[in-house]
Amino acid sequence: MAGSNKKNILVGVSGGIAAYKICTLVSSLKKDGHDVHVLMTKEAEEFVGPLTFQTLSGHPVIRNMFSLQDGAEVHHIALAAKADAFVIAPASANTIAKIAHGIADDMLTTTFLAATCPKLIVPAMNTHMLENPVTQDNIALCRKYGMYVMESASGYLACGDTGSGRMPEAHQIKDALESILESERYLAGKKVVVSAGPTQEAVDPVRYITNHSSGKMGYALARAARNAGAHVVLVSGKTALEAPFGIDMIHITSAQDMADAVLRESADADAVIMAAAVADYTPKETADHKLKKSDNDMYIELKRTTDILKMLGERKQPHQKLIGFAMETEDLLANAAGKLEKKNADFIVANSIAEAGAGFGVDTNRVTILSREEEKDLGLLSKDETAEKILEYCLKEG
Ligand code: CTP
Repeated sequence: MAGSNKKNILVGVSGGIAAYKICTLVSSLKKDGHDVHVLMTKEAEEFVGPLTFQTLSGHPVIRNMFSLQDGAEVHHIALAAKADAFVIAPASANTIAKIAHGIADDMLTTTFLAATCPKLIVPAMNTHMLENPVTQDNIALCRKYGMYVMESASGYLACGDTGSGRMPEAHQIKDALESILESERYLAGKKVVVSAGPTQEAVDPVRYITNHSSGKMGYALARAARNAGAHVVLVSGKTALEAPFGIDMIHITSAQDMADAVLRESADADAVIMAAAVADYTPKETADHKLKKSDNDMYIELKRTTDILKMLGERKQPHQKLIGFAMETEDLLANAAGKLEKKNADFIVANSIAEAGAGFGVDTNRVTILSREEEKDLGLLSKDETAEKILEYCLKEG
């Protein structure tokens, strides 16, 4: 969790085979420096031993209401009072039913009812149990009471069925937790459109022209804007990345698709961040059949695509902030300054792919932000930290 402080996180584990995945979550939250307390239902203990969670969290597990261990009855209320977030994962149909109706008949549900912090529910169960209207109504009630509920994934379930009800992976739960943890919501009420990843320009039904963009920087910016309270629309080319929690995704393929989506979504946006590597050229014609080889050389005629950032610059509204990227191999700052003017952007984030630790595919970046007033070198940071710093620099007022 880039740049954030140590938080008090309560992890409630209810009965379900997915409980084993929570070991990774607890370990990862601890590694980030958070104070983690685990609460288990009796059923959860059938799947993972409390000793595992005690060892990973460094605290005794809060288990049975009536065990009197370490004065736990008072202790759990104190924990609820100082918690920054409470996640229940896996949340069984039974536990969801209880918390939706304020039933507090064990340590987990009692502590949950007493906690006033942001709460995240991660359902995991058999498909038919999840799809049962009773469970769906209970989930809707949890949402109505202000809890965040993660969508369950689809796939093979331990009960042998295939369908929805599968618990998201630990890193996805952590991403969702990051979005609900208290942070400075300086973008609350704002809409931020972020573009990310490469575009694909079809030559024929089996071939296309693309680039090396992984989408990592754009996705990091989208998550950072979400964590700062914005409503984020992420327009993404084809990448290997998962949709982040709480972000509206628009998946696109070509530069034209990207132009259509970004121009449409930007009409009421407060900020647009063009982190995508949009193709500057696309084949003049796309063959509707697979092109066959001959013994001769082959030439593909290309035409210009819409320069989306330039078009956004032409229609920029007074309250709107436009952030573009410049990835260069030489004359980084001079080229970036040229783009600032040519595209009427407010900021250009410049990075040199010649520099170690910056550019495509890696998890770090080194960027310089150019505005009309100054140049700001952020130094070598993780892409998450770079994203936070870019947003603070460009979009935080005062
Ligand atoms: N961009 C865009 N539409 C395009 C091409 C690029 O909106 N068709 C955006 C990129 O998302 C990035 C910025 O413009 O924010 C800079 O992209 P880049 O391709 O490096 O700059 P160009 O102005 O196209 O210049 P050149 O290719 O000559 O470096």
